[in-house]
Amino acid sequence: MASSLLRAALRAAPLILPLFALTVQGDTTLLDFEQVQLDSKHSHDHPALSFAKTKRGGGNGNDGQEFGHTHPPETECRAFPGSDDWPSDNEWRRFNTSLGGALLKPLPPAAACYTGTPSYNLTQCRYIVNNASSGSFFHDDPVQILTQWTEGNTCLPAINATGTCSQGGFPVYVVNATTVKHVQAAVNFARNNNIRLVIKNTGHDFGGRSVGAGSLSVWTHHLDSFQYLPRYTQGNYTGMAAQFGSGLQAWRVFNYMYDNGNITIVGPGLRSVGANGGWFASGGHGNLASFYGLGADQALEIHVVTADGRFVVANADENEDLFYALRGGGGSTYGVVTSVIVKAYPPINTTRAQLSIACRPPADTNARAPLAQITNATFFVNDTALYWKALGVYFQFKKTIVDAGGVDWDYLYPLQGVAAPTNGTVRNGTTNATVPATGPGFSFRVAATFPNRTVDQVATILAPLYAAFRAVPGLAHITLTRSEISTSPYAGARTPVPGSGLSQTRYRSRILPRVNWATEASFETTMSAIRAGVEDGGYTWHGLSIGATNDVAGYPGRTAAVNPAWRNGILHGIFITQQPTGLTTQAARDEEARIQRYMSVLRAVSPGAGAYMNEGDPGEPDWQQAFYGSNYNRLLNIKRRRDPWGVFWAPTTVGSEAWEVRTADGYPRSQNGRLCRVRATTATAASPAA
Ligand SMILES: Cc1cc2nc3c(=O)[nH]c(=O)nc-3n(C[C@H](O)[C@H](O)[C@H](O)COP(=O)(O)OP(=O)(O)OC[C@H]3O[C@@H](n4cnc5c(N)ncnc54)[C@H](O)[C@@H]3O)c2cc1C
Ligand SMILES: *[C@@H]1O[C@H](CO)[C@@H](O)[C@H](O)[C@H]1NC(C)=O
Ligand SMILES: *[C@@H]1O[C@H](CO)[C@@H](O)[C@H](O)[C@H]1NC(C)=O
Ligand SMILES: *[C@@H]1O[C@H](CO)[C@@H](O)[C@H](O)[C@H]1NC(C)=O
Ligand SMILES: *[C@@H]1O[C@H](CO)[C@@H](O)[C@H](O)[C@H]1NC(C)=O
Ligand SMILES: *[C@@H]1O[C@H](CO)[C@@H](O)[C@H](O)[C@H]1NC(C)=O
Ligand SMILES: *[C@@H]1O[C@H](CO)[C@@H](O)[C@H](O)[C@H]1NC(C)=O
Ligand SMILES: *[C@@H]1O[C@H](CO)[C@@H](O)[C@H](O)[C@H]1NC(C)=O
Ligand SMILES: *[C@@H]1O[C@H](CO)[C@@H](O)[C@H](O)[C@H]1NC(C)=O
Ligand SMILES: *[C@@H]1O[C@H](CO)[C@@H](O)[C@H](O)[C@H]1NC(C)=O
Ligand SMILES: *[C@@H]1O[C@H](CO)[C@@H](O)[C@H](O)[C@H]1NC(C)=O
Ligand SMILES: *[C@@H]1O[C@H](CO)[C@@H](O)[C@H](O)[C@H]1NC(C)=O
Ligand SMILES: *[C@@H]1O[C@H](CO)[C@@H](O)[C@H](O)[C@H]1NC(C)=O
Repeated sequence: MASSLLRAALRAAPLILPLFALTVQGDTTLLDFEQVQLDSKHSHDHPALSFAKTKRGGGNGNDGQEFGHTHPPETECRAFPGSDDWPSDNEWRRFNTSLGGALLKPLPPAAACYTGTPSYNLTQCRYIVNNASSGSFFHDDPVQILTQWTEGNTCLPAINATGTCSQGGFPVYVVNATTVKHVQAAVNFARNNNIRLVIKNTGHDFGGRSVGAGSLSVWTHHLDSFQYLPRYTQGNYTGMAAQFGSGLQAWRVFNYMYDNGNITIVGPGLRSVGANGGWFASGGHGNLASFYGLGADQALEIHVVTADGRFVVANADENEDLFYALRGGGGSTYGVVTSVIVKAYPPINTTRAQLSIACRPPADTNARAPLAQITNATFFVNDTALYWKALGVYFQFKKTIVDAGGVDWDYLYPLQGVAAPTNGTVRNGTTNATVPATGPGFSFRVAATFPNRTVDQVATILAPLYAAFRAVPGLAHITLTRSEISTSPYAGARTPVPGSGLSQTRYRSRILPRVNWATEASFETTMSAIRAGVEDGGYTWHGLSIGATNDVAGYPGRTAAVNPAWRNGILHGIFITQQPTGLTTQAARDEEARIQRYMSVLRAVSPGAGAYMNEGDPGEPDWQQAFYGSNYNRLLNIKRRRDPWGVFWAPTTVGSEAWEVRTADGYPRSQNGRLCRVRATTATAASPAA
């Protein structure tokens, strides 16, 4: 192992070797688990674990060296259980021995529900179906992912399940990585044996990017060390920082913030999400996104195992190409991140304000299933046009929210039975009104969060919003309620283990740019596009107002490969659907085509803007432009140079258009099939989305 990581290891002990501390441009520390690395002697004894050869034989390919990899023969498909090139059981055993026993061959957990599997156990099945979602069971499982349809809906949890349970789109083997050596061995073994490699952290990905049929999975969940660095220097940054393993979930990071004097670290809005995995790799938003920037904007240094098996440090001065690409250019593309050093800030409060509006238009025979709740804090509007006028007033105000450093999360439910347990009491000016519990209606709810603002300050920020409601005949009863504004410390309480259930959720995203707020006409067409999807399409809308501008991103964030759409975006809009189980391939395609009619209206009002891959559609048309914008070609060059073998692959990641998953039935976007190169003839004919 040459320069980079050796230097890093030495820098980890600057008191012993002060000479090195004088020559480096920044501080590098290795976490405990990063000090255990694969050495070339070990890989010499076990050739399946050899590092990729580079021109400089044994060099680590850093510091702008030319890459001169020896290319393996280009087989059309990755090895698959049963194929000639799939390693023998003996080879897998030997691999497990080299890993010190960290190789797992897990069944999907719901195998417990299926007679005929070795883990059939009705008690366990009942637990999985009825109770597992209230705890971290699925996050702690080596293979389970939360969005089931992307793995092909194999082995679904169900009591009295019929049919068989197969491994399907889940990986065949998993490396339960607890050291960098485990990660390096997995990358080398997969590359040398033509095996599909996937990386699973928490399994939150909506696009099936943390599973794959016939794969070896690197499971990062236990790379979970944390250290607070009160005075840290890297590049032009000097200040507070923290370093933590890529397996750490956000709830644990919040607890570490609390344990370290309520320091602030930018994290996702939902605390079950991984704080350094796919979230930050594609941007990563949370309550501080308009104040301190996205997750990717926080990184000062990234430690990563690259496709050649080497463990390298990437920061503003070393491996700058990786440092750029890993901050927003996508997970599962350039390497396996083992830890990230991020900025930390002093303690901060956040203040939250809520608003709900419901509408009961005249009866509509197209009423859908009940979902939304009318609560006592809901303002009631009895006319559809007036309801959309009210939403227009609020949506217009989103620009002011993000410019004040705030974010908001809204949900807009389509026409459906507005269910309340009894006849609802809704606020109507200073009086209460009773509205019938059943009957179709629209509803809207939103919570806005402002960092570093008091209740009084937020009331002042919101005053023009309520003045705008007052100015519209029929909306004067929508008034500011102080009890709907509350303050809490960002990091001042212990977070319990968050739960997650399994779902069939499917997101489609569009990041709507600031320019759409510039004129009344552009704003009105934007609102009509949203209204068409909700009212005519019948889709649930989830909007997030975020202003992660270059100014907010600061240094070094503004140099990251974050989708440029974030930098001038105001509103990340999502149409949510549930992908039904049991759809035929044709029906699945028809559903895709239907929603694309409404997505194309949103795209038409935001030409050249983009979409958020982490909450976007694995079937996004022209995804290269939508998810990466003008960064795509630079990222593709880095991908080709760093991973000429295509070791890392997941749908809609940079360079992924060269490969496809061939499923038995052609079901769109399923990971339940063999990974093969796109044939040259089809590559030119097929669109990326096909
Ligand atoms: C309930 C829920 C809430 C969410 N809330 C938010 C939110 O508040 N803000 C937001 O921005 N997004 C949110 N998301 C979306 C989230 O950002 C994505 O699901 C993201 O992919 C999760 O990353 P993960 O590492 O936790 O999950 P995984 O599914 O395990 O990984 C996601 C992707 O990253 C890759 N990856 C993971 N770890 C590494 C690593 N160490 N090195 C290289 N590649 C890696 C995986 O291979 C995969 O491609 C939410 C999703 C869900 C389901
Ligand atoms: C079945 O699962 C339960 C936990 O859900 C466990 O306590 C029990 O030991 C299991 N039974 C067998 C036979 O493995
Ligand atoms: C499962 O089958 C049993 C016996 O047939 C039945 O009593 C029970 O209601 C079924 N449970 C579910 C959830 O279908
Ligand atoms: C993975 O490794 C961790 C740390 O050694 C261990 O606690 C955990 O039980 C392992 N998980 C599985 C499923 O073997
Ligand atoms: C750091 O600051 C110096 C001087 O202000 C500037 O020249 C240099 O470009 C900066 N470096 C980075 C990586 O931004
Ligand atoms: C952290 O915040 C909590 C809640 O505000 C407070 O009780 C606690 O004292 C704070 N801890 C430190 C070290 O400041
Ligand atoms: C947070 O708010 C509380 C009460 O409103 C206040 O006492 C505290 O000083 C604030 N903390 C910070 C860091 O502003
Ligand atoms: C409204 O408030 C009353 C009194 O607080 C409560 O009993 C009732 O459940 C609330 N209704 C709804 C729909 O939330
Ligand atoms: C809506 O309410 C107004 C009074 O606020 C009333 O005049 C009108 O008739 C109502 N419309 C419907 C459709 O109920
Ligand atoms: C709800 O209101 C309707 C009239 O709008 C009334 O007939 C009905 O009894 C009420 N139901 C309850 C549970 O209060
Ligand atoms: C309206 O309902 C709320 C919650 O149930 C209650 O606190 C309030 O006193 C009511 N207002 C009037 C004017 O009845
Ligand atoms: C709300 O209050 C207005 C008067 O302020 C009244 O005209 C209207 O009928 C009320 N709406 C309901 C649903 O009670
Ligand atoms: C927080 O607000 C205070 C008072 O408004 C201001 O002085 C301070 O600079 C703000 N902190 C940050 C990090 O913006």
